[in-house]
Amino acid sequence: MAAPPRTDAQKQSIKNRIEEKLRQGYRPPGLNGQGPAAIAAAGKDAEQAGEYASAAAFCTAAYGLTGEFEPDWTLYRPRQYQHRPPGLPVIPSQDHITEDEPEGDPIRVAVIGDAHDSPHLPDKSRFYWMGAYIAEHRIERVVSVGDWMTMDCFSSHTDRATFEGMAKPTFEQDIDSFHQSQRAFQDGLGGWKPKKDICFGNHENRARKYDNLHPDGLSHWMLLEQAFAQWGWRTSLYGEYRFIGGVGFVHVPFNALGRPLTQNQRPNKALCDTVHGDDHRATQLTDYKAGPFRSPTVYSAATALPPGFIEGFSNKGGSTWRSGICEAVIWGGVVRSWKFEEMSLLRHRYGQKAAA
Ligand SMILES: [Fe+2]
Repeated sequence: MAAPPRTDAQKQSIKNRIEEKLRQGYRPPGLNGQGPAAIAAAGKDAEQAGEYASAAAFCTAAYGLTGEFEPDWTLYRPRQYQHRPPGLPVIPSQDHITEDEPEGDPIRVAVIGDAHDSPHLPDKSRFYWMGAYIAEHRIERVVSVGDWMTMDCFSSHTDRATFEGMAKPTFEQDIDSFHQSQRAFQDGLGGWKPKKDICFGNHENRARKYDNLHPDGLSHWMLLEQAFAQWGWRTSLYGEYRFIGGVGFVHVPFNALGRPLTQNQRPNKALCDTVHGDDHRATQLTDYKAGPFRSPTVYSAATALPPGFIEGFSNKGGSTWRSGICEAVIWGGVVRSWKFEEMSLLRHRYGQKAAA
């Protein structure tokens, strides 16, 4: 049997509840932001008051309101500190600016920047140190923001026919080196089993580009995906975002033409907190947004190279390169804590253990 239609008094009560939340700084529909919006917050109250069986039932009823019962969305008052203009009386109450405690528990994510594994760096200790750090701190998620490996076998910068190109590894050598790096990481983790995600970088993407240019039936890309799957990594394509708790992870944010954004453009264009790699820096940038919004912050996760190591292509311009591991704590859709620990500290802490 269909539920009886709602009375005008019931509709008015829903409207009142929502308008009260708008005045308290909860968002109207369609406005971007963190925390519950006005309808959801009102639904929670209605459920607690026993008026509705669930917040979802309240929301369904709320979305059906039309005409005179549609809430006046313009009552929305942004959660923004109201500074007293000079010469005017003190603003009596600022209660509505207090942020709610986000729902759920904070999510801890270890972020590994560009590790650039390669047969040219046969010492894989840094992967062991990172694994040991994650295990010791009991971090439940790991994201590599790509360029775990350099995939120099498919580098288009150096032609195999050149003297320099003769030193390029083969695909097998690159994959073999990759497995060694993963073995070291796994040894560092010991029995600790975090969830692992990688957002592929331009270096992993070299395999896709190569396959496209050499359609001879052998998919190096598939072999690469298999190699990552073997160690339990979930992958996403170069340029694609992986969202964890509302925070975007990507190798590097793109512009509309599919090219990496410059450093200044990234915080300017971002619509959500973003963690990325690619530029090998350890930065935390935010840019002003017009209006009462929380501007997103964009974090660069540096590299995960041996302490002080700068790749040959940048050895005269590597002053901004940093190597280490990052830890993000995500809660309520944004990064609440960000930590960067330099690789030298990891070596200091875990180097002896590896040698023992
Ligand atoms: Fe890189």
